[in-house]
Amino acid sequence: MIRSAKALVAAEEAARAAGALMRAHLRRPKRVNEANQHDIKLELDVRCQKLITRSLAAAFPNVPVLGEEGIDEKAEAAEARWVVDPIDGTVNFAYGIPHAAVSIALQVRDGAKFRTEVGVVYDPFLDECWTAIRGKPARLNGRKIHVTTRTRLDEAVISLGFAKSNESLRASKTDFTDLTHRVRKLRIMGSAALALTYVACGRFDAYIEAGVRLWDIAAGGLIVECAGGEFWHRQLDGLHRYALVANNGLLRKKLASRKKPAS
Ligand code: IPD
Repeated sequence: MIRSAKALVAAEEAARAAGALMRAHLRRPKRVNEANQHDIKLELDVRCQKLITRSLAAAFPNVPVLGEEGIDEKAEAAEARWVVDPIDGTVNFAYGIPHAAVSIALQVRDGAKFRTEVGVVYDPFLDECWTAIRGKPARLNGRKIHVTTRTRLDEAVISLGFAKSNESLRASKTDFTDLTHRVRKLRIMGSAALALTYVACGRFDAYIEAGVRLWDIAAGGLIVECAGGEFWHRQLDGLHRYALVANNGLLRKKLASRKKPAS
């Protein structure tokens, strides 16, 4: 049985260590391991995940890591696992845009599925650390946070994620077209983890993405829920892939009917 409070301390420590490495390298040239039209994988992604894995293992030697940069084969059958995105917003980071984060969640088995119990998202460039333990209030740098209470779409700021596959890009383009004249502002910032935490602390009213991976959203999703919001997500085909609408709990129906553009 893992104590959530201890897991949170370990996750925050690991996130801050990786964040320090990101901060040190933001303006430096970075080695690219792999690149395609809409994605980049950096050598630093791998280094950060190794650092996080070592740091988590010091506190929890038997909990495997399911991460963007490698999945421990024990992670699917385990009773508990870490879900890690070492650098969420890699393209931003690669281009020197200081909007990227470390995302670490602890999940525990719940029948055939997993439930997220602890979440940490750390933005090393603004030194902002969001944390949550299921059943307790979400926090930003130790202070309790809450989602917005906005009910009107025409006053809402909505963040969209533009992912990597052609299929999800097409869906996001439809969302963009449908929503652009119906909301106050759309924002496309490039880090799913931060978009979720921005919903949690009331900077955004909602975040929509058509195809995102578990490591991008596990920690942020719990943080949204613990901040009083709704983390609606649906599993898609493909490895740990999801569609999601995270929101303040008041806007999803209006967002779901977005296929009918305003006249
Ligand atoms: C990506 C970012 C981006 C989102 C993509 C993610 P990565 O994660 O979160 O905002 O639109 O779906 O894959 O690759 O930078 O860790």
